[in-house]
Formats: sequence, C-alpha cells, structure tokens
Amino acid sequence: MYRIITTDGRAKRGELTTVHGTIQTPVFMNVGTVGAIKGAVSTMDLHMIGTQVELSNTYHLHVRPGDTVIKKLGGLHRFMNWDRPILTDSGGFQVFSLTSLRKIKEEGVYFHSHIDGRKIFMGPEESMQIQSNLASTIAMAFDECAPYPADRNYMVNSVNRTTRWLKRCKDEMSRLNSLEDTINPHQLLFGINQGGTYEDIRTDHAKTIAEMELDGYAVGGLAVGETHAEMYHILDKVVPCLPQDKPTYLMGVGTPANILEGVDRGIDFFDCVYPSRNGRHGHVYTNHGKLNLFNARYELDDRPIEEECQCPACRNYSRAYIRHLLKAKEMLGMRLCVLHNLYFYNHLMEEIREAIEEHRYSAFKKAKLEGFLINDK
Ligand code: GUN
Ligand code: ZN
Repeated sequence: MYRIITTDGRAKRGELTTVHGTIQTPVFMNVGTVGAIKGAVSTMDLHMIGTQVELSNTYHLHVRPGDTVIKKLGGLHRFMNWDRPILTDSGGFQVFSLTSLRKIKEEGVYFHSHIDGRKIFMGPEESMQIQSNLASTIAMAFDECAPYPADRNYMVNSVNRTTRWLKRCKDEMSRLNSLEDTINPHQLLFGINQGGTYEDIRTDHAKTIAEMELDGYAVGGLAVGETHAEMYHILDKVVPCLPQDKPTYLMGVGTPANILEGVDRGIDFFDCVYPSRNGRHGHVYTNHGKLNLFNARYELDDRPIEEECQCPACRNYSRAYIRHLLKAKEMLGMRLCVLHNLYFYNHLMEEIREAIEEHRYSAFKKAKLEGFLINDK
C-alpha cells in the first residue's frame, strides 16, 4: 500500500507499506548483488547506517548458491538475516550486461553463465519463480534493457516484447502468490518502462503499463551512456504518464546530483553501486564533493572524512588513518569508506525527505548541488 504524505513541486514524500515494514520515500536502496553489500558490510552494519531497503539480484543468486537452496533455508531474508524490505532485480539487466552468447527469443533469453559458462534459459516465468523462491518484498518484472544506442526499429520490437513479458510476469506472480508453499504470498511486482531516449516510445510504453495495475513502476534503460540532460528529459516526459498513486523507481541511478534531480521529477526509489564501488577505491562522498583518500594531501589530515557525519568511520577515525589502511591494503580501510558512503547516501535521502515535508525542496537541491561542485572530481 503506497500513499503520498505530501508533495513539493513534482517531488513526492511517500511511504510504501509492505509485509517487511514501511519504506519512507524518497529512498536509496543499498546494493547487495549476491546477498551481501561489497566491502564486508554486514546486515548489523546496515541497521546502524540507516538502510531501509536492501537490493539483490535474481540472476546472481540463481547461479550461486541457487534460489532453490535459499528457499529451503527459508528465503533470502532469513538466509542473510535481514528483516526489512528487500527488492530483487529480475535478471533482465544482469543477463544483458554480464553474460555472453545471448539469444533473445519470444520465450525469453538463452545465455551462458558468467561463473562457469553453463547454458541457462531465463524468461518471465523463470524470473518470477526465482524471485518467489527468494521471497523478496518487491520483485521486478523481466525486461530487456536495450543496448545504447539502439536503432528505432530494434527499440520498438524490444519494448513490445518487454510489454508481452510484463503480462506474463503479472500472471505468473499472481499464480505463485496463491500457492501454498510460497514463502511470501504478498510479494509485490514492479513493472519497468523502457524505450531508450526515444521520447514517443517511452511515453507510449509508460501509458500501456500504467493500465496494468502493478504495485509500482520503474524507469529502466537509463544511465547506460546517454547524457544526464537526456536522462532528465526522459524523466520529465515519462513520470507524468505513470500512475501518480504508485511508487516510482529510477533503476541504477546514480550520483547524489542525479538523485536530487530524480526526486525533483517525482522518483521514489533509487539504487546504485557507486557508494560501495567508490568506497572500495577510497573515493568518499562529502557535502563539498568527493575526496580520494589515496591522495598525499591526507597523509597528516587528522580530521574525519566529514566533520558533521555521524557514520562509524567519521565518529571514530581520521582521514590519515583510513588513508593508511587503504595504502596498506587492510580490509578495514575499504569497509570504513563503504560504510561512510552508504551512510552519506542514506542520510542525504533523509535530508531530502525532510526538505520535501517542509516544502523547501527547490532551495535545498540548489544548495546541495552547489556544495557537491566544490570538489567534484
Ligand atoms: N538496472 C538498471 N537498469 C535496469 C533496467 O533497465 N532493467 C533492469 N531489470 N534492471 C536495471
Ligand atoms: Zn562518515
């Protein structure tokens, strides 16, 4: 059940109530592809840094350890000891970005595993079955994230197939949710809008899926090579075509600036590997831009990454010490950077929610963007 608490311009302050608790939006989901946040971050850590939703991947967990194994162990929540909401991506993106020798057919996609090369088939029914076995809170529809750039003819065919796949996903999800041995019979299904940078294909597709009464609506196929201006333009056109009384999700996005712009265009959910990936490379976010802790200028810097930050890294350690850990290749160095970055994103979302509630989002966004530019390398 989704409800809008208040709005400020096009920005929405909402909440989605699920069987695993209520999600306050706008929200940033913390990415744990294989059921773990990279950088040795535990679910105890996630509670400490204010994570609301964890995101895992259907394709990865199907290949290893196997969704049937996870089902036997009580589902993904129990397996990874996380009792708050989990969103699983459908495999539709990972299959296209990670695997080789793909063949896309009407029934689904044939491909080779990126782990051991074995042949796998995944279609809408398989993706729903796997996500039902994982028993996530929110399942994503099985889609094709078309390559960028793709010609118009390719895109029309791809989007039409994605629509047919979405109908099959919906039917299969309602069948699975009604079975007796389903771990989470209340699993939600979000549809995914596609169409690349073709405005008319995007909006036609958005209007088509808007009628399908899904639990939420994602915008996929963005941040794949187009400019930020193109991405914002597509959001300007597409979001108004989606149901206003359902949550929206901008998949795989993005930088703090991208998130501020997405919220301004009515997006509720975000996810991205940036905070964890950058953290593992010693790149940390601050309200005055990103810092590279490998830089020699931090050798004698006794300050925390960010003075006001309440994360475990900033409350306890200096830039100089974390830099030393990174240079010495101590795991703790990476871990502290990832914890800081995830806290930074989660805290940014908290500030965003507050700014919308207080109807000062536009000024808030402007001030944040100016701060990020100070050292945004
Ligand atoms: N993650 C980022 N973009 C996409 C997309 O277009 N589809 C899916 N399924 N996942 C994504
Ligand atoms: Zn911090």
